This record gives sequence, C-alpha cells and structure tokens, in this order.
Amino acid sequence: MHRREDSYLGAPGLELTIRPLEPGDLSEILNIELQGYSHPWSEGIFLDCFKPDYRLWGVCQNGSLAGYVVVSYVLDEVHLLNLCVHPGFRGRGAGRLLLRHLLAEAARECMNQVILEVRLSNNVASKLYRNEGFEEIGRRPRYYPAASGWEDARVMALLLQP
Ligand SMILES: CC(C)(COP(=O)(O)OP(=O)(O)OC[C@H]1O[C@@H](n2cnc3c(N)ncnc32)[C@H](O)[C@@H]1OP(=O)(O)O)[C@@H](O)C(=O)NCCC(=O)NCCS
Repeated sequence: MHRREDSYLGAPGLELTIRPLEPGDLSEILNIELQGYSHPWSEGIFLDCFKPDYRLWGVCQNGSLAGYVVVSYVLDEVHLLNLCVHPGFRGRGAGRLLLRHLLAEAARECMNQVILEVRLSNNVASKLYRNEGFEEIGRRPRYYPAASGWEDARVMALLLQP
C-alpha cells in the first residue's frame, strides 16, 4: 500500500518522519495515549476515527511512533481532537511538527479554520498553540473530567484562509 511520508530534521541529528496512521498502529498509539492523559481515549474511539472525514498523522523516529495528531473535517472547519507525543520524545519539536503538518495539509485541502479545546491547566499545549498562531475564542465550562470534578476548556482557533 502506498504511504506518503514527509521527512523533517528536528533537533540536531533528529530525523522525524510524518506519515498517515493506520489501524495497525493502534497498539503503539494506545501505549503513548495511556502515558499522555489522565483520561485517555479508548481503542474504540481511535478506531472510530479511521473514516474519510478524519485525518490521522503519526510522527516517527527510526520507524517507532513518537506521537500523533487526530483531526476531523466538518465542512470547511478542522477540529483538532488529539495531539500527543510520547513522554520520552517531548521537548524535541515533534509536537510542533505534527501541528504544522496538519495546518499545511488543512490549507492544502482548502479548509478555512482550525479549532481546538485544551484544558485550562495545560500550559505547555496552550503555549504551543499560541506560538503557532491560535487565539483563544472562548471557554467551555466543565468540559473535561478531572481528578476531582471537572475542568474548563480553553477554545482556540486559527484562520487558514485570509
Ligand atoms: C503538548 C505536547 C503535544 C507538546 O509536544 P512536544 O513534542 O513536547 O512539543 P515541542 O517539542 O514541539 O515543543 C513545543 C513547545 O512546548 C515547549 N515544551 C515542551 N515540553 C515542555 C515542558 N515539559 N515544559 C515547558 N515547555 C515545554 C517547548 O519548549 C516549545 O516551546 P516554544 O514554542 O516556546 O519553543 C506534549 O507535551 C504532549 O503530548 N502532552 C500530553 C498530551 C497533551 O496535553 N496534548 C494536548 C491536548 S490539547
């Protein structure tokens, strides 16, 4: 099966490859997901995303999956649903690479806007999104389950077309 791969040089000497994910990647995806979130997605949720209106990209180093991003396309809007990097690969540019890749793909497919939710407490992700041009457009109260109760979401958006 043909797979489109793009190579990038991240931190010095770190060659990262981005490719579409397949259901066969699920065990590696779930391994990262379980280490990434207090309330991780189940295998069934990921399986539901292998549909035409979704895009799933993985970032690999030496063939090993280091992280992934999942988005859905609705009309002209892209919803960023999941962006996660293996704890052992963080801080080396993989998250930014995935984000830039999905933005480039969305622009190539003539999408108009990318929207996402992020936990209020998730300063690392919020800063990454801001640095890549996202702006906060609102809040969703009690959007995420938390250790004790619920946590609000910051809603962020980026316009792709002028
Ligand atoms: C958010 C996440 C995807 C970032 O991935 P990453 O590969 O570490 O990110 P990058 O290496 O591309 O770095 C992006 C920015 O985050 C900063 N950063 C990364 N790890 C950090 C840390 N532990 N503490 C502070 N800043 C950090 C980098 O310095 C960089 O900042 P800059 O924009 O000022 O240069 C990753 O932390 C992660 O998987 N978190 C758990 C899942 C999650 O919260 N996903 C977001 C859901 S909305």
